[in-house]
Amino acid sequence: MVKRIPLPQEPIAEIDAVIQYDKGAKCYMMPEYKYFVWKIRRRGIKSGTVLDIGTGSGLLAIELSKAKGCHFDIIGIDISENMVRRAIENAKQAKVEDRIRFLVSTAATLPFADNSFDFVMSYASLHHWLEPVAVFNEVERVVKETGSVIIRDNKRIYQNPFWKSIIWFISRFMNKRHRGNWSKAILASYTIPEVNEIITRSRLRDYRVSSDFVFIDLCIESRCK
Ligand SMILES: C[S@@+](CC[C@H](N)C(=O)[O-])C[C@H]1O[C@@H](n2cnc3c(N)ncnc32)[C@H](O)[C@@H]1O
Repeated sequence: MVKRIPLPQEPIAEIDAVIQYDKGAKCYMMPEYKYFVWKIRRRGIKSGTVLDIGTGSGLLAIELSKAKGCHFDIIGIDISENMVRRAIENAKQAKVEDRIRFLVSTAATLPFADNSFDFVMSYASLHHWLEPVAVFNEVERVVKETGSVIIRDNKRIYQNPFWKSIIWFISRFMNKRHRGNWSKAILASYTIPEVNEIITRSRLRDYRVSSDFVFIDLCIESRCK
């Protein structure tokens, strides 16, 4: 088993790192965002209040706000001030600033009342969380009884030589910086049994954890039909 190597710090904080992240996300991650939105719609989620945890530069929230036939009222939160500033700019550029609000907050203590959201989502943030159990508890607290949750992240696939070589191959098409960041993110990510063990210690309920997006990601769904 390849050992998990946690990231050195929780936020992507420095302005230079944020600008680079945003550029890379626009370049390489759009298929993932589109797939996530497709998955949300496929689960029959088409309206209501949405929370995006670890929203980064807001690209998933923006993609969801543009989904055809849907009407969402979205809040994106991130622990990094510079990410939130970037997300606000991106929403303005996409002309969806009236549909999304971005706030600086840690996911471990969310500034929202109990049962506030119809849908809670998160992408590529779980492997950053220093207190994942606290975040899952907060997710359970803020989601409505009738609501649902989808949290997606990388999976630590490096114990499998086949998937390790696929990642190596895909990353040849990236610039050096993003290639390096992606492999660090994968090493900081969890396996499915590890995620199950963490959630067992939290209050999140009615959940399942499965492989997702050509096997390289994992997906936690709670109360999804
Ligand atoms: C790899 S980025 C993913 C951003 C975005 N979801 C996307 O798909 O582009 C991870 C984000 O999680 C944020 N983050 C890390 N720990 C957090 C926490 N405890 N609470 C809120 N945001 C957090 C980081 O600041 C960073 O913006």
